[in-house]
Amino acid sequence: MTDRKPRVLATRHFPPDVESRLAGSFDAVLNLEDRLYDGPALIKAAEGCDGIMCAAGDPLNADTVGKLPASVRMIATFSVGYEHVDVAAAARRKILVSNTPDVLTDATADIAMLCLLGAARRAHEGTTMLRTHSWVGWTPTQLMGVHVTGKRLGILGMGRIGQALADRARAFRMTIHYSNRTRLKPDLEKGAIFHANPDDILPHCDFLSINAPMTPETHKWVNAARLAKLPKGAIVVNTARGGVVDDEALIAALKSGHLASAGIDVFDGEPKIHAGYYGLQNAFLLPHMGSATVETRNAMGFKALDNLEAFLLKGLEPPDLVKV
Ligand code: DGY
Repeated sequence: MTDRKPRVLATRHFPPDVESRLAGSFDAVLNLEDRLYDGPALIKAAEGCDGIMCAAGDPLNADTVGKLPASVRMIATFSVGYEHVDVAAAARRKILVSNTPDVLTDATADIAMLCLLGAARRAHEGTTMLRTHSWVGWTPTQLMGVHVTGKRLGILGMGRIGQALADRARAFRMTIHYSNRTRLKPDLEKGAIFHANPDDILPHCDFLSINAPMTPETHKWVNAARLAKLPKGAIVVNTARGGVVDDEALIAALKSGHLASAGIDVFDGEPKIHAGYYGLQNAFLLPHMGSATVETRNAMGFKALDNLEAFLLKGLEPPDLVKV
């Protein structure tokens, strides 16, 4: 029996209050310079570590997880999405994985609404006009966008964030259509119209919001054939994961005018986004900011720590254990 504190590697520079608690509870290996670890560097940094606190984008694929030092018993990701951690590979190594559900629901739903409104109301063109000194003053036809109130919103993935977005959209008197693995109970559905087959929501979408996790089933789900089923002038919003969208197809639909615009917070291969997005005036783009509020990022960190402490300090099952 030893009284040494378990050692935990922080793969990123986390918010100050989170790092202080991490350093209080554990022998913390911090990354104050926020260096980006590739697989081999992460494996090396994890030497002698009992746990890893990682984040979206870290390369914890099967190869990296398979080569982690034998000391590693747990990976706690500072995110609700965990597609960057190969959970099956971790299970083979008997490494537990936890995530941070619930705490980023509102912040992410807020950003989804911001993307929806920003895309509909041509926010990118407006701010660019102003900041490039090109605004000649108010004109009756300037930057006319798409009306939001009373329109139809299709939500792919009616989990916590999808439901929170629906609540916000109801304040805009939007009609909600949704598809989800399972139909919600009436008290959660609140009148939203369920489509068992996700493809069936498409013709009903003035707006389509992606709120589904990235899985083999959702990979590039928004493709050319599905975009063609959206009404002309529809708007696509993605605050879930970039990989759910086929970028070539989305960019083509934005260029052709089939889509009026798109509001996007997440990108396939981010931060190296598809070059086609940069020239699009009808795309309102944000750099993966869904959970970026002080309150939310602290809550995510504390949740990751709750999980690490439960398992590494108390020998309990992590409350947010990701099941294989
Ligand atoms: C998550 O938690 O999955 C977010 O995308 C990170 O902000």
